Amino acid sequence: MSALRDRAVALTGATGGIGSALCAALVEAGATVHAIGRDHRRLGALAAAHPGRVLPLAADLSTPAGVQRACTLLAAARPEPSVLVLGAAVSRFGMFEDLDSADLAAMVETNLLAPMRLVHALLPRLARTRDPAVVAVGSTFGSIGFPGFAAYSATKFGLRGFIEALAREHADGPVRFQYLSPRATRTPINPPAVDALNAELGTAVDEPAAVARQLVAAIVRGDRRRQLGFPEKLFARLNGALPALVDRALAKQLPTVRRHARAAPIAAPPGAASPTTQEVLP
Ligand SMILES: NC(=O)c1ccc[n+]([C@@H]2O[C@H](COP(=O)([O-])OP(=O)(O)OC[C@H]3O[C@@H](n4cnc5c(N)ncnc54)[C@H](OP(=O)(O)O)[C@@H]3O)[C@@H](O)[C@H]2O)c1
Repeated sequence: MSALRDRAVALTGATGGIGSALCAALVEAGATVHAIGRDHRRLGALAAAHPGRVLPLAADLSTPAGVQRACTLLAAARPEPSVLVLGAAVSRFGMFEDLDSADLAAMVETNLLAPMRLVHALLPRLARTRDPAVVAVGSTFGSIGFPGFAAYSATKFGLRGFIEALAREHADGPVRFQYLSPRATRTPINPPAVDALNAELGTAVDEPAAVARQLVAAIVRGDRRRQLGFPEKLFARLNGALPALVDRALAKQLPTVRRHARAAPIAAPPGAASPTTQEVLP
């Protein structure tokens, strides 16, 4: 994809920390954004901040009906999107045995099944547009299974495998598939316990605007896959080639992870719809 000027992008997770910054960066790159999220108020604020360039579209992607609603709205959306960015996700930090079944379902439905359902429904239409692309927002934890994030890691590994296989399935077709992974970023998906863990482990945490700029550059370049940040880039490769080395490094961090995970309150996953959001959705 040469450039985003005068192109339309459908973006899930537009109301989130990275998503809102990505809206701004995409608009700055010349695109119009069909912004998908659950929260009407934040969608309205995004549209007001970018008049005529960010067009709000409310849908809850954690159910087949919600995905269907998003697809119906996108089919009628003008300008017609030729780029689909899959950014919506939820995460639940905690030792796996402390998560409940609803946590697991929310992560699998939102982070993995929703992207699969969206691509399944939208691919034929996308393929008929000029220079089409599907861009998945992954995670370092889609390359490194991380303690305290077992279910979230599983969904991001799944997303990475999905995009890789699709790219190979469509190697001779018009649609480009990209898997782009931010490292830790300062957004509401990370509760205070994760911030505390990152601080104690010395993990670098990026600002959403910087991540958004790198994502847009990667979209414009057409990168097939990209891990943002160093040393995350190195560790992701190391985990693929020599996982026993990463096993040993993470075993040293396990007591710290466990302490922060057990300190995290057992509550709804960050990013889950607030009662206000639920009230305003049809
Ligand atoms: N922050 C990090 O440390 C980090 C690191 C690596 C990768 N990532 C990835 O970056 C992406 C953006 O994350 P973020 O940090 O910006 O998180 P965030 O601020 O919590 O935003 C999450 C977004 O997902 C949307 N979403 C969640 N559940 C949804 C549902 N059922 N239906 C529709 N939309 C839903 C939210 O919409 P509403 O607010 O409208 O509900 C929100 O727009 C995610 O894919 C995440 O996995 C984040």
